[in-house]
Amino acid sequence: MEDPTALDPAFRAVLMDYEARARSEDELMSGLPEAEVARRLDEMLLCVGRSAGVFLNLLVKESHSKRILEVGSSYGYSTHWLAEGARAVGGRVTSLELKVAKTEYGTAQLKKAGLADYVEFRVGDALVSLEALPGPFDFVLIDLWKNLYVPVWDLLYPKLAPGALVVADNMIHPPSAQAHARAYRERVVACAGMTSVLLSVGNGLELSRYR
Ligand SMILES: C[S@@+](CC[C@H](N)C(=O)[O-])C[C@H]1O[C@@H](n2cnc3c(N)ncnc32)[C@H](O)[C@@H]1O
Repeated sequence: MEDPTALDPAFRAVLMDYEARARSEDELMSGLPEAEVARRLDEMLLCVGRSAGVFLNLLVKESHSKRILEVGSSYGYSTHWLAEGARAVGGRVTSLELKVAKTEYGTAQLKKAGLADYVEFRVGDALVSLEALPGPFDFVLIDLWKNLYVPVWDLLYPKLAPGALVVADNMIHPPSAQAHARAYRERVVACAGMTSVLLSVGNGLELSRYR
């Protein structure tokens, strides 16, 4: 875990705000019937969490990745970790999300954190947005609904820069995502030039490198 005092104060304050919201949502969801959780899913951050956030940030900085893509922004928690990394290396984040209200919240938070200049949200179906984006990408986070990981991968793979890193969340948790997670990992390693490893960080991250 990183030294919290080393974080930029505005960035840190926004993270604390998100994490307090995530804790209260986790508590709320644990007391709701499954059908009610499903019905209210769009109210929830569903964020990658602190360990995965720190890891993403560290990877962006160490790899000096400038062309960063996020597939599944939600309310912008992981976007902040990517954006802080982008600021450090002179990069930019393009972040894809279906729901405009989530990106509006994310934009307001990024402004508070002083990171808004490093992110462009594209609202709509990520599969459509991804088809229109030319790439190449140096760094990608995949974290949208799990049944879309394989179709996202198929669009993404031809747009990876040499040395690109791709991180996919929810490879271990929740158990309901495991079949989709397995299908994703099998598809990645079947592609030429991919090296890939499953890491027990946060909800389980697949870290893959192209050539
Ligand atoms: C698990 S959340 C992302 C959490 C975020 N990465 C974080 O850590 O803060 C998944 C998000 O993917 C979005 N999503 C689902 N299907 C999508 C699609 N076809 N195109 C774009 N976004 C989609 C959902 O609206 C949801 O906000």
